[in-house]
Amino acid sequence: MDGLSLNELLNAYSLSGAYPMHMPGHKRNGSLLGAELPYRLDITEIPGFDNLQSPEGVLKSTAELAARLYGAERAYLSVNGSTGAILAAVRACAKPYDQVIVARNCHKSVYSAMEIGLLKPSFIAPDVDPDTGIARSVEPAQVREALKANPGAKLVVVTSPTYEGVLSDIRGIAEAAHESGIPLLVDSAHGAHLGFSPFFGESAVQAGADLTVVSLHKTLPALTQSALLLSRGGLTDEAALHNAVNAFQTSSPSYVLLASIDACLRLLETQGGRLFADYERRLKRFRDKMGRLRRLRLYGLKGDGPRPYYGLDPGKLAIATNAADITGPELAELLRGEYKIETEMAAPEYALAMTSLCDTDEGFELLSEALLKIDAGLKEGSARSMPERPALPQRAAFPYELAGEEGEPVELCRCAGRVSMEYVWAYPPGVPLIAPGEIVPDWLAKGAPGLETRSLHSTRGGFPLRLYCKKE
Ligand SMILES: Cc1ncc(COP(=O)(O)O)c(C=O)c1O
Repeated sequence: MDGLSLNELLNAYSLSGAYPMHMPGHKRNGSLLGAELPYRLDITEIPGFDNLQSPEGVLKSTAELAARLYGAERAYLSVNGSTGAILAAVRACAKPYDQVIVARNCHKSVYSAMEIGLLKPSFIAPDVDPDTGIARSVEPAQVREALKANPGAKLVVVTSPTYEGVLSDIRGIAEAAHESGIPLLVDSAHGAHLGFSPFFGESAVQAGADLTVVSLHKTLPALTQSALLLSRGGLTDEAALHNAVNAFQTSSPSYVLLASIDACLRLLETQGGRLFADYERRLKRFRDKMGRLRRLRLYGLKGDGPRPYYGLDPGKLAIATNAADITGPELAELLRGEYKIETEMAAPEYALAMTSLCDTDEGFELLSEALLKIDAGLKEGSARSMPERPALPQRAAFPYELAGEEGEPVELCRCAGRVSMEYVWAYPPGVPLIAPGEIVPDWLAKGAPGLETRSLHSTRGGFPLRLYCKKE
């Protein structure tokens, strides 16, 4: 069976006639369920199929292929998305009460990791594009400054690319972290496709990140939840990493997901060059067409102001609406209703379309034609910009310090100045407006004007009516 891919092995096994007196309980017999799900391939860790907790066989080969393709020294397969990989990476790098330097626009999984690990974050707030509200790059100088103010910090965490495709100077940030002798973790959940072709630029691993997390499922052809944690350099403790990966990962990993990871990596290995060349050609054609937009604007094409970001992933298509008489959610609704195109998300001043190397010429054509038609019917808007707000709320306590404190639900309009006991997230992308222990700013107590209320969620679900605050 040597040399067979995990997919081939699973297929061969499903035809072998072996009777499963083991988990999973569907027994590879989908007839009762009548659903077209891959029960046939969904096995457990039986002999010949290795063990994700301690890979020695076929899963080790997949992890080695991942490490080779991304230029990492080691790769861990995650069937718990980037979320699980981020929880593990942070856990492995910092002990309780350690200080960590974290970009404020990090995903909620980074916040969960800090809360679970009893960590003390010092936040770096990237600038925000005033037209769209899109967070810009984290600057190496900001990281250096934060490290100077927190000389004992044990880890730097940034997101690059962001949900909207904004890249930071990972080389510069890695250098800053390494000058202080500490590792850099890059949440590159949206950057699994980087590093395979010059058009998309280098990956965080290539740029010197010690730990990089990529969601294969977000921008590459892989099933939802499949991700990788990639490590390199001597600043991380591999044993701690291995231990943490297992702590945050199910002990019953889905072989369907693992096979999807393997298939995705093999595709990149054997056909990546051609697929990325085709993808680049499609994106360039699309961008050329977007030059004809009059009111809408493809973010990154022109008019984003001086030095708005370090780099932009060309695969993310944020269509800015702030100069037109339409909002982001209205644009998304038009695309859905009139053109049967479902976008990834809509914010007040943009709609975000995600692309991948699996998109077809027809798919790009559909989107470009729809946008051009919609644009032709739009009038000039009032050149809106996002309301300004302070970059960071003041902090009264770290989230873990609130354990045991009493809280109470408070009407939102009465919350200003109170200490929040819960998160309010903009989801997507899962970035917090306020974290537990932070003092509720006026603008949040006013209902976060300028933000799409439907996309705001609080831990306890009371927002925008109520917020759970510390009892006074
Ligand atoms: C920036 C960022 N990091 C991490 C994650 C978590 O990734 P996953 O859904 O693979 O767990 C997300 C998910 O949206 C994300 O946007």
